[in-house]
Amino acid sequence: MADAKRQADSPGVTLWFTGLPCSGKSTISQLVYQHLRQAGRKVELLDGDQVRQHLTKGLGFSKEGRDENIRRIGYVCHLLTRNGVVAIAAAISPYRAVRDEVRRLIGSFVEIYLDCPVEVCMQRDVKGMYKKALAGELQGFTGVSDPYEPPLHPELTLHTDKEPAEACAARLLRRLAEMGYLPSVRVPPEPYTPEEEAAIRRRLEQLGYL
Ligand code: ADX
Repeated sequence: MADAKRQADSPGVTLWFTGLPCSGKSTISQLVYQHLRQAGRKVELLDGDQVRQHLTKGLGFSKEGRDENIRRIGYVCHLLTRNGVVAIAAAISPYRAVRDEVRRLIGSFVEIYLDCPVEVCMQRDVKGMYKKALAGELQGFTGVSDPYEPPLHPELTLHTDKEPAEACAARLLRRLAEMGYLPSVRVPPEPYTPEEEAAIRRRLEQLGYL
C-alpha cells in the first residue's frame, strides 16, 4: 500500500504513558515508536527527559511545574493527533487531574499505565536518582518523597516487572489494533500460553515432526 494512502486511512491518536521513574516508559515507548514508524505511520515521541530540555525547559518539579509540563506536552499531542499522527507521550505525569484534562482536550487518547512496584524501579535506578532521593540528597522525587497517582481507568495496564519490554510493546500494539487505531499496521500475534505450546508440541510429536 502506498504510504500516502496508508496514512490517509489512519486516525491520529495520543498514546500517553504514565508511571514511576524507571517503570519503563522510555524503553517501551521507543519500541512502539520504532514499530509504527517502520510500518509507515507518522509518529512522534515526546519523552519527558528530552522535552524538559526545550519545550518545557526551566519548569521544575513542584506540582505546578509538573502540571504545566503535562499541559504543554498534551497541547502538542493534541495538534499532532488532529493531523493524523500517532503522538506518544512518555512522562511520569504523576497527577491524575491534569492527565484527565489533556485526555479531554485530545479525545483520541489511550492511557497506558506502567505498573511496576517502586522496589523494582529502585533496583533499576537507571540514572542513580532513587539512590540520591533515598539518601536525602534530592528532594521531592516521585515514588520516594513526591506523590504518584495511578490512573483509575487506563486503556491498558502493563506490568513491566513481570513481562519484558518487547512483550509489553506487542501487547500495546494489539490493544491499539483492537481499538481500530492501526488499520494498516501488522501487529505481533498473541504469544502462545505454556498450555497451548505443550499441546502443539504433543500434536507435532504424534505427527512425527519432532
Ligand atoms: S513529570 O513529573 O513532569 O511528568 P518528567 O517525566 O517530565 O516528570 O521528568 C522526569 C525526569 O526528570 C526523570 O526521569 C528524572 O530524570 C528527572 N527528575 C529530576 N528531578 C526529579 C524529581 N524530583 N522527580 C522526578 N523526576 C525528576
